Amino acid sequence: MTDCEQEKPRLKRRAARERAARKEAETLLEDKSRELYLANTRLHEWSATLEARVLQRTEELEQQTRELQTLLIERERFTANVTHELRTPLQGILGFANLGMTKGADAPGVKIEKWFKAIHHSGNTLLLLVNNLLDIAKLDAGMMDIVVQHFTVNELYNDVSSEFTLRCKDKGVTFSLSGDGQICLQADQFRMGQVFRNLVGNALKFCDENSEITLAATQSVNSVQLSVSNKGPQIPHSEAESIFEAFVESTSTRSNSGGTGLGLAICKHIISAHKGEIWLNTASSDTCFVVEIPNRMQAAA
Ligand SMILES: Nc1ncnc2c1ncn2[C@@H]1O[C@H](COP(=O)(O)OP(=O)(O)OP(=O)(O)O)[C@@H](O)[C@H]1O
Ligand SMILES: [Mg+2]
Repeated sequence: MTDCEQEKPRLKRRAARERAARKEAETLLEDKSRELYLANTRLHEWSATLEARVLQRTEELEQQTRELQTLLIERERFTANVTHELRTPLQGILGFANLGMTKGADAPGVKIEKWFKAIHHSGNTLLLLVNNLLDIAKLDAGMMDIVVQHFTVNELYNDVSSEFTLRCKDKGVTFSLSGDGQICLQADQFRMGQVFRNLVGNALKFCDENSEITLAATQSVNSVQLSVSNKGPQIPHSEAESIFEAFVESTSTRSNSGGTGLGLAICKHIISAHKGEIWLNTASSDTCFVVEIPNRMQAAA
């Protein structure tokens, strides 16, 4: 056998090994290029939506900034109002106290009594304002507990009307209940009293002399509706929402209603805490505020 014939099988094996190695390398290359292709496709998809996502996130951030700015402006307005409202009775107290200090020794008793009455009145205004502000702060922070009790509309009416008997008499006003007094309310009795004392107090403050204030009650499957109406200056429809903001007064009642301007804001907070709603019924020919609270037991059934 020649040398050449002896080399043949060895060369054949070598060629086969090389073919197998090339095949393996080709398969590996194919796998890698498939992976590369997929990664590339994903990258394309991602970069195509990236711009849209960045835009959306920027819009969300801008919206949040706008909301924060509005909140900040509202806070500043609120603080300015509080400062102003606190300063007025405080100045009254200091002014009359100063009168007593400088002229008290020579002033007649009637005058001194008048100064003390003015100090007392300003002190009461201050106390009412501070209490209302505390209520607003607690309600804002969700720190006011709502204790749900069962009581009738009659009980609510009696509770509120007993407080206004004298003032109603002075103005020749009758305060009556219409509808079913036996309707049962499931709410915080003290807080509901606070809401209706403000609504009836407002009605009495702004109603015509010798007129009528009505508390009306109706019930549906899921809620109880209570309304307080009176005849008097009509609140313009455009102010139906703003009057529920702190320190906002309707243009129809002009200034000096004598209140702290927090009553309706507190009512709104309390009713919201009951998962209910309060609004001015602009369809009524009277001034009519409506409160709707869910009938918890029935809603849960
Ligand atoms: N029955 C009503 N008739 C006419 N205007 C009303 C009536 N109730 C409320 N308003 C208007 O809404 C405003 C806000 O009422 P709200 O009870 O919040 O404040 P207030 O009565 O002025 O003060 P506060 O209740 O804190 O003592 C009133 O100042 C008044 O302009
Ligand atoms: Mg009021």
